[in-house]
Amino acid sequence: MIVSTELEQKGNLFPSEIINYKKEVDTLHFFTKNGVVLQVTVVRDSVIRFRYSTTGKFENDFSYGVTIHASRGYSFLDVTENATHYILTTSKLICKVEKLSLQVSLFDALDLKLINEDEIGFHWEESYEFGGDIVKMSKACQKAESFYGLGDKPVEVNLKGKRFENWATDSYAFGKDTDPIYKAIPFYTAIQENKAYGIFFDNTFKSHFDFAQERRNVTSFWAQGGEMNYYFMYGPAMEDVVKNYTDLTGKPHTLPPLWALGFHQCKWSYYPESNVKEVTKTFRDLKIPCDAIYLDIDYMEGFRCFTWDKKHFPDPKRMVKELEDDGFKTVVIIDPGIKIDLEYDVFKEALDKDYFCKRADGPYMKGKVWPGECYFPDYTKPEVREWWSGLFKELIEDIGVKGVWNDMNEPAVMDVPNKSFPDDVRHDYDGNPCSHRKAHNIYGTQMARATYHGLKKYAYPKRPFVITRSAYSGAQRYTSTWMGDNVATWEHLAIANNQAQRMAMSGFSFAGSDIGGFAGQPQGELFARWIQLGVFHAFCRVHSSGDHGNQEPWVFGDEVTDIVRKFVELRYQLLPYLYTAFWRYVNDGTPILKSLVLYDQEDTATHYRSDEFVYGEQILICPILEPNAKGRRMYIPRGKWYNFWTNELLEGGKEYWVDANIDSMPIFIKEGAIIPKYPVQQYVGEKKFDEITLEVYYKEGKEASILYDDAHDGYDYKKGRFSLRTFQVTGKKEELIIQQHKRGEFNADYSKYKMVFHNLPFTITAIQIDNVAIKLEDLNISGSQTISIKKEFSELHLFGK
Ligand code: GLC
Repeated sequence: MIVSTELEQKGNLFPSEIINYKKEVDTLHFFTKNGVVLQVTVVRDSVIRFRYSTTGKFENDFSYGVTIHASRGYSFLDVTENATHYILTTSKLICKVEKLSLQVSLFDALDLKLINEDEIGFHWEESYEFGGDIVKMSKACQKAESFYGLGDKPVEVNLKGKRFENWATDSYAFGKDTDPIYKAIPFYTAIQENKAYGIFFDNTFKSHFDFAQERRNVTSFWAQGGEMNYYFMYGPAMEDVVKNYTDLTGKPHTLPPLWALGFHQCKWSYYPESNVKEVTKTFRDLKIPCDAIYLDIDYMEGFRCFTWDKKHFPDPKRMVKELEDDGFKTVVIIDPGIKIDLEYDVFKEALDKDYFCKRADGPYMKGKVWPGECYFPDYTKPEVREWWSGLFKELIEDIGVKGVWNDMNEPAVMDVPNKSFPDDVRHDYDGNPCSHRKAHNIYGTQMARATYHGLKKYAYPKRPFVITRSAYSGAQRYTSTWMGDNVATWEHLAIANNQAQRMAMSGFSFAGSDIGGFAGQPQGELFARWIQLGVFHAFCRVHSSGDHGNQEPWVFGDEVTDIVRKFVELRYQLLPYLYTAFWRYVNDGTPILKSLVLYDQEDTATHYRSDEFVYGEQILICPILEPNAKGRRMYIPRGKWYNFWTNELLEGGKEYWVDANIDSMPIFIKEGAIIPKYPVQQYVGEKKFDEITLEVYYKEGKEASILYDDAHDGYDYKKGRFSLRTFQVTGKKEELIIQQHKRGEFNADYSKYKMVFHNLPFTITAIQIDNVAIKLEDLNISGSQTISIKKEFSELHLFGK
């Protein structure tokens, strides 16, 4: 093996030749002469785990990132060796381990082409200061290779040529190049030669990724401690890579209640009660749909979690009930810092039970946050999580709060240079005691996890709703998330777009930005454009710091108010479409937003696109990201797409100018799609309706669409009380056939579909439903393009000329 002497001089160590190997069922161990062990585990046919030890012994195999529910098992595994390599073969991958160097290369098992290979591969530096190793991996980077993922990084979608750090950091008013920010999601997907693969480096220490920044032909990642422990996932479709990663680190444990997909309004802070009511009432008066109202830190007594400021909120239970009667769910903030105050029962109990984090030599971890000096629960201890969950009893069960917002959980500490705990703080790490160096990145996720379990228990039989700021891989199982303290600038609108897409391709689809910007005050135009984008993010909330004035939809004048209403109404109409996309995400890990590269990786023109994305499966969105725009140029992916506003049909695979005045935004619908719509409601469940709309976009040829439904809350759907309808459209010159197939026992309240046909190339002359001819008069045909029919049919056949 050719080892770089430069690296060697810098104190790097490298594995030597393999002297032995053993195989146990799905796991192989390779032993080198200088004591390195490589453990290779076949998790699935397309997922292989690589783990290295430099001491001859592996750490306890514990991960917060990988779920016990992950699919495991493969259909085929064969191990052979030749003079130079050991060769593992599954039905999807061939993995070669070089005998002389322990270097790994991976090939597609079908066409035998190289997917990825180690450059130097595994190497390490001993850390005298902390003990253990700084573990490193370098891989060859191909010329046309592109990189995606890594959670909340604000930069453009393709990460090539850049280097990143993963260390959860409170980042007020971060910028496009600020790194790291709030989350640590050490997972990326790479694409080269139309083959996508992913790497999940499951190591919670501070880690770095370099995508051909330092050296043009090398990609590398390394961490300040722990093991070199990564999962290699093969597609070759990028979407399958993301699904594999999401399967490994977990899909959301439950679907969100449908109201959580509505519009949310937040500010730091709405208080007193009369102010909250004024805001909610204005939503209703102005008929802007809204489902959730947030209480930021000022609802508490001196920022003590789980208390109420009785001066401003004399009777929270009554208020929450009144809000609920008006269709508003109340979401409250809960931070990790617990005020040091012996009169405060939460503090007292945690102190008595020894639940707070301590420094290496024994003192408590003391740090300043909103309430002043605080101690912090060690959420990495199961008993502490259990206790924390229990604290939600009163808020949820008694007062009726419906959602909890976990903030400052990087963890954030004020007025200290590193903005967080010092490295020496001790954590339980679920029985694997360690310092903060290892627990930092996972702290927020464990807090959100404990919160989730509290809500799950006390909101039962309703579904929980949690939102977190910090996250590590796997947090998506428990919670939604937002991007933290952004700024009211046009640049941040683009950042929000990048981040939401990136989160979705990092297994975390339930995400959104503070619409309008947290810091600073947007102009009405920026606010309107941000709303237009935000209604197409899975999590849709306006939030602002409140110190520059208000940010409710109506403060920018009538024109903006009307635009906001129009787009929020569209979100509410599209709820069944979003809910279906969410079901796909929960069911098989399909990301709710798809960057164009994820949508069509074969088309290399998509590899560097950041602005456009596909929402769900069939709606193409392109936000307007500049002031004074009357439209913009955008790339339409391959296939044919209908302009949502004009019904004009465009052939994709190229750029177009698309008109979009301030009250519009480029939205396209995939040819052949059936898009379900509810009537506009002011909040989820406001109306009972007997009919939903299916917008049918004619295609000559075939296209399938699905519609998932259930009770929109509760857990009955897990017992089969859901319905999954598949619509197969087949369009011909003078005919259109829609076949419907239903699975599941749920029967929604509505009994009819209003079908709106877009761009039928013929006038309807006859209709058959399940082979029976129907009189056109019986179908309430309005114009020639709309019919109303009973929802239970197997085949609808339109004839025309
Ligand atoms: C942090 C949060 C922000 C919140 C504020 C006060 O800055 O990111 O969303 O409003 O704290 O709680």
